[in-house]
Parts: sequence; structure tokens; C-alpha cells
Amino acid sequence: MERLFTGLQPSGALHIGNYLGTLKQTVELCKSHDGLVMIADYHALTSLKKPEELRRNIIDVAKDYIAVGMDPEKTIIFKQSDVPEHTELAWIFDCLVSVKFLELAHAYKDKVAKGLEANAGLFTYPMLMAADILLYDTDVVPVGADQKQHVEYAREAAAKFNNTYGETFKEAKELILESVAVVPGTDGKKMSKSYGNTIPLFGTKDEIAKAVMSIVTDSSGGVPVNVYNIHKAVKSEAELAPLYETSKGKYKALKEALIEDIEAMVAPMRARRDSLTDADIKKLLTEGSGKARERASTKMKDVRAKVGVAL
Ligand code: ADP
Ligand code: TRP
Repeated sequence: MERLFTGLQPSGALHIGNYLGTLKQTVELCKSHDGLVMIADYHALTSLKKPEELRRNIIDVAKDYIAVGMDPEKTIIFKQSDVPEHTELAWIFDCLVSVKFLELAHAYKDKVAKGLEANAGLFTYPMLMAADILLYDTDVVPVGADQKQHVEYAREAAAKFNNTYGETFKEAKELILESVAVVPGTDGKKMSKSYGNTIPLFGTKDEIAKAVMSIVTDSSGGVPVNVYNIHKAVKSEAELAPLYETSKGKYKALKEALIEDIEAMVAPMRARRDSLTDADIKKLLTEGSGKARERASTKMKDVRAKVGVAL
């Protein structure tokens, strides 16, 4: 069975773009793969400096994964910081790649382009992600298109290590979840926490309705493009065709239909989420981290021997 690895930052409430863009497909893929799903808490530390919020987010993201259908009996769900081999291997990769190479990474470049000061963690972020992926002899990494470059960086790190110290790491491939590559937000731009244009995945029905009602509609033509583009990520275009034909120009009715369709998709997941306690999650993560660490420590033993620090 192919091995799958993916990670998600615990950086706040998920929106339907996260779910339809990556999470939903990842859950499906996990059913047919030997899967590991990691909560990237150390990656989150590059931007989140509020301990209480980070703690809350970690529990929440684990709940989210399970609510959307991830089966912790089959897939290992764990927390990055519980497996110190990740930061250890990241350091070894840092020592193999050049500053010039890291300077080309989008996450860092974008921050600098905005005139913001990037911390060193953000700069070396791709090497921590490379360590995440490579520690587990991963075959495939399902990610949204925005993470493609990071997986390429992981392959590059694997190749550099293998060339220097001998064949050790598998070159993992990204699996870009194309079908709904980018879900637009309420303003038509990519739905993103940082743009404040999201529709929450686990909001109440009222919160979802409020977000949908705020979708910016253009005044020309009978089809509100921004509503339709979100709608077609929830339902097939064939299913939508009759609705958009009969409700041409009726923006409010179309928004109401979208609210109902999102609610129908979310309600069962919301119920599952509400049934999970924080204690359930802590127990589950401890179990998951134990299993992940077993694999990671075997790999690191080999790596330490190869680089020459194991005597
Ligand atoms: P945000 O842009 O809201 O900060 P993240 O960067 O935390 O979202 O994204 C987490 C995952 O969800 C990534 O793999 C990303 O590709 C996916 N994702 C985020 N927004 C969208 C979107 N609008 N459409 C499709 N996938 C998305
Ligand atoms: N960088 C990814 C994101 O922001 C999260 C992540 C961390 C990840 N490590 C990973 C994704 C390893 C895939 C594989 O979405």
C-alpha cells in the first residue's frame, strides 16, 4: 500500500475552501493508503505567538479532521511537536541547502515582498516540511496547489541528502487536489483566512448564512458569478443548471439555495464534531504520536549514522 503523508497548520477555524480544496479528498485518499496526518504545530509557531490560542487550535484541528471523516483507527493522526525527530532532521537539511535556494520559497518571498520582516523559522520552513514528509518514506503528499513548491523542496532536500550521504530518502510526489483547486471567497478572490472572505466550515447555520449573504454579486447578467463559483464547489454544475436557469437574476434566492446546500453538507460533520471531547482528542493524539515516533526514530537512527554523529 502506498504511503501518504499530509499536514495541516493549527491556525484557526477551517473554512469551506480548506474542506473542499484539500480535506475532503485527503479523507478519501486515506481510505486507500497507509496514511499519516500531522498537525503542524511547529510550523504554526512561525506566525502564532499566543500559547492559549495555539493549544486550542491544535485540539480543534484534530476534531475537524475526525469530524470530516478521518478514521484514527486506520490513519495515524499526530502532532509534529510530539515527534522531535522532525526538528532534528530539519536541522540536518538546513545544513545541506543554500540560503539562495531558501530565498526562492514563496512563503518567505511573499512576506518580504509585502515589506514584512520574516523570522528565521519562516525562512527555513520548507526544510521542516521536508523533514515531515521524508521521515516516513512517503510516496504521496496530497496538498492544495499553493503547497506544490514546498513538496518540490522536499524532493530537492532528499536528493541533496542522498547525493551526499547515500540513498536514504524516497522522493515523495505531491498529489495536487485539482478538481476544486481554488474555492473563491465571498469577494471572489481565493477564500483565505488572511483575506477575511471565508465561509466557516463548522460555524452555526446563522454564521454560514451571514457569510453567504455577504457574497459580493455583480450587477450584470443573471448569474452572480461569485455565488455560482462557490456553489459549483459544493454541487456539480449539472445539478446546478436547472436552479440557475429558473432563478436567473434572483440573487437572494440563489444565495438561500447555497446556504441550504452548505448546511446539508456540514450538518452531519458538525454533529460528529460536537460529540468529541477535548479528553478524547488528547488521548487519540498521544496514541498517534507514539506510532509516528516509532517510525521516525528508526529512520533517524539511520540518518544519524550516515551523517556521522552516531559514534
Ligand atoms: P488560508 O489561505 O485560509 O490561510 P491555509 O493556507 O491554512 O488557508 O490552507 C490550508 C489548506 O487548505 C492548504 O492545503 C490549501 O491549499 C487549502 N486551501 C486553502 N484555501 C483554499 C481555497 N480557497 N481553495 C482550495 N483550497 C484551499
Ligand atoms: N505547510 C503546510 C500548509 O501550510 C502544512 C504542512 C506542514 C504540510 N508539513 C507538511 C503539508 C507536510 C503536507 C506535508 O498547509
